[in-house]
Amino acid sequence: MSSTTDSAAGRAEIAARTLRTDRWWLPPLLTAVGLLAWVAYATVRAFMQLWYFVPQYNYLTPFYSPCVSTGCIEQAAHFGRFLPDWPILPYAALTLPFLLLFRLTCYYYRKAYYRSFWFSPPACAVAEPHRRYKGESRGPLLGQNLHRYFFYAATIISIINTYDAIVAFHGDEGFQMGLGNLILVGNVILLWAYTLSCHSCRHIAGGRLKHFSKHPVRYWMWTQISKLNNRHMQLAWASLIFVCLTDLYVALVASGTISDLRFIN
Ligand code: FES
Repeated sequence: MSSTTDSAAGRAEIAARTLRTDRWWLPPLLTAVGLLAWVAYATVRAFMQLWYFVPQYNYLTPFYSPCVSTGCIEQAAHFGRFLPDWPILPYAALTLPFLLLFRLTCYYYRKAYYRSFWFSPPACAVAEPHRRYKGESRGPLLGQNLHRYFFYAATIISIINTYDAIVAFHGDEGFQMGLGNLILVGNVILLWAYTLSCHSCRHIAGGRLKHFSKHPVRYWMWTQISKLNNRHMQLAWASLIFVCLTDLYVALVASGTISDLRFIN
């Protein structure tokens, strides 16, 4: 290999940044806009400390679950209230950081924001502006390896969100159901689909096995998770968008802007 090829990141020495003529910049641009919009919305809502619960229907937005601040409405605090009620502390401060870290270290989101924000590289066959490539072999990106542990935290949070969705079916009159229930259930389904399609989950199910034939249950789980895993990017976006829509719906009903469409009670 020549010394010129060894230079920089080992790319072919061409004057142009890329020879691609298609709109390669569009996907990273859309990703950046989408992620920034989501972060802006989620940040505002997480610190708002308002319109997170609909008492008559037991609707609790996932952005405030579990509601563990002393400022939480008692009926919304299914797991107790023990965090101080400070404006800078979200009511779900116990779980939101783990959810954020789970998404931040996700293999798909890494690809998305490495391309969109760090241009490392912005697209296939497009040179990146950085002179050296260190990958995830040292800090702080070495911390991306903690993803497998955030997966366990996300699983617990999915269980909590599932509990919230089930509790919302119980009212003073017994079983109740409205559009909000269906939205909460839809959110939980997408949340589970995204969480279970995680690469770490797939590895937990079927990794480190020498003979699938000796572990039929794990093999079956691995094949099912692999099917979900094929759709990981789509599930990442679907669950990300739907959790915002769920929160928006709860906020609109809680604020009295719209009425919940009731089917039973
Ligand atoms: S790889 Fe995306 S959630 Fe684990």
